[in-house]
Amino acid sequence: MEVRVMENTFEISKAVSSIIIDEVKRNPKAVLGFATGASPIETYKRMIEAYENGEVSFKSITTFNLDEYCGLTRDDENSYFRFMKENLFGKTDIDFSRVNFLSGDETESEKSCREYSEKIAAAGGIDIQLLGIGTNGHIGFNEPSDSFSDGPFKVKLTQSTINSNSKYFKDKKMPGYALTMGIGDIMRAKKILLIATGESKANAVFKMIKGEVTPSCPASVLQNHSNAVIYLDRESAKLL
Ligand code: F6R
Repeated sequence: MEVRVMENTFEISKAVSSIIIDEVKRNPKAVLGFATGASPIETYKRMIEAYENGEVSFKSITTFNLDEYCGLTRDDENSYFRFMKENLFGKTDIDFSRVNFLSGDETESEKSCREYSEKIAAAGGIDIQLLGIGTNGHIGFNEPSDSFSDGPFKVKLTQSTINSNSKYFKDKKMPGYALTMGIGDIMRAKKILLIATGESKANAVFKMIKGEVTPSCPASVLQNHSNAVIYLDRESAKLL
């Protein structure tokens, strides 16, 4: 695990987006794993700018997102599919037929969990997986628990995650469950880039990097990945 402390979110977004863009230039059919939330938004903006400048085309990439809320349709304003459409996919030439998501629709969710790891394998595995980290140390929606998961599963969200994310749900209650890629799926990615900014992440960042590898801080498992780079700003790195 490599740790890079940078001046601010903008510097992080330049560094992370250029790794992704270089990978896509080198291999237009790259398989990319994406995250939602505040952490990757600036990186997605740099990717959109590179597309608009004609520097890169995303039309042949395949994508797998980490997670989705249970009970929300794709078009729900709070779904992670909608987030990706608005913050990246819809603003580039990404081909939606190669966009993969766990399905929040109750009638499909079990099947989509069962098939997701196989789909990732069939695509050749994830070349670069982008991650954020929860204040409780979660990656994807792998909440603190007593064992590391392997494949995708339905998870009951913890109060800490509900506290962090309910601000996005204006008039309605945030779902209490989500589907997430497992720790095994994340660890099988060839390269992992994790972004953490702000003081609220400092404690989780400390445990991820300096603590023991334990499912009570799921992100600590990244210590065992041979090609994981953690991008921090000064605030999130302040306990290191
Ligand atoms: C989102 C995801 C989560 C977030 C984490 C941090 O797809 O998998 O693990 O990365 O909750 O969220 P932000 O970036 O909003 O602080």
